[in-house]
Parts: sequence; C-alpha cells; structure tokens
Amino acid sequence: MIHELLASFPNPAHLSAAERRGIIARYTAVLEGNFIYWMTAAYLAVASDEAHAIIEDNLREEVRDNHPGMLRKFAMAADAMPTDSDALAVHRDLQGVRQFVARLSGARLVVMMAFFEGWITKFMPYLAELAARQGSTEQEYTDVHGVVDVVHTQGLFRALDAELALLPEPAPPMAPLLEGAEALGTLISTIVHFRAGGTGRTTPEGR
Ligand SMILES: [Fe+2]
Repeated sequence: MIHELLASFPNPAHLSAAERRGIIARYTAVLEGNFIYWMTAAYLAVASDEAHAIIEDNLREEVRDNHPGMLRKFAMAADAMPTDSDALAVHRDLQGVRQFVARLSGARLVVMMAFFEGWITKFMPYLAELAARQGSTEQEYTDVHGVVDVVHTQGLFRALDAELALLPEPAPPMAPLLEGAEALGTLISTIVHFRAGGTGRTTPEGR
C-alpha cells in the first residue's frame, strides 16, 4: 500500500507553488492534531503488555519532543500554514478515519498506525523537497521523522504480533485487519492529490 501511494505522487518539479503549498498544508492539517490522538487510541485499544509498552514509548517521544510543534514550525517556514480550505479538503476522509478509530479495535488500529509510520518515513524526502522548493530551509521535522519512524514502524509490527497472539486461532483474515489502513490510505491520497474545484482526486487513490 505504501509503495502504491508513493508511486502515484506527482513529481514535485511538475507542481505549481500553490500545489506544493497545498500538500504541505493538508499534511499538517491532518498530522498536527490527530497523530497523537490516534496513537493514544491504539494505546487504549490494545490488550497485550508488549503492545502497551511499545506504544507508550512512541507517545512519550511524540509529546516530550513536541512533534506537533515541530510540524507547525515546518509548515510556517514553508509558508504553508493550514487554512479553512485545507481543513475542508480533507474533512470527509478525515472523518472516515476518525470513525474507524472510534471503534477502538486493537489489532486493526496497530496495523493502521504501522502503515502510517511506515508511510511517513518514506514520505519525508518528498515533503522536504516540497518545502525546499517553497524556499524553506527548515527541515527538523522531516529529518527527525525520516529516522525515528523506521524504528517506530518495526516496534508497531512487534506490537501487532503481540496482539495477534492473544486472538483465538485461526488467525483473522487479512481484509478486515486492513480496514483502518485502507481508510487512512484514502485520506493520504486526498492530502497529495486534492485539487480545488476538482472531484477531489486526479489519480486513482492508493490502496
Ligand atoms: Fe512524530
């Protein structure tokens, strides 16, 4: 899913300044206020001690190192602070993810967050390039997240193993496990492909 999403992204060299600003602003509108809340939901939803410990570490780092503030600084430096239009552009798909998160389904939330962290890691060079093309030199957010989220993704896959081990045999089918990741993939696709006045997406969304 991550590779399909990345392959669908437009070449930053072919984007206008407004299009580059829009991607950074929508990314910020989604990540700044929701990442820690969704990770907290995963913490509340899991049952195993190991998953709790892994997710707690992740949350502590987010809070202690002020990652939302780091992202806000990044967006401001790129002149891409989210506006009401940016919030509206992602509104419907964001609500879809929030409705999934509200169900507090442990293993599926961990799958969603592992997908999220894995995608963020791979997305950082792209996001950094968009900001650089906007004339920004502020790269703390993209530098930090290109590195720490590799470890976070691996941790979340260990947390998933621990959660799945608690479920009765046989292992649950794959499709329902991916439900949250699918909803998040749709949201990510809108972050990158949204065009004002268009149908919302100009390319088939990633799965
Ligand atoms: Fe973070």
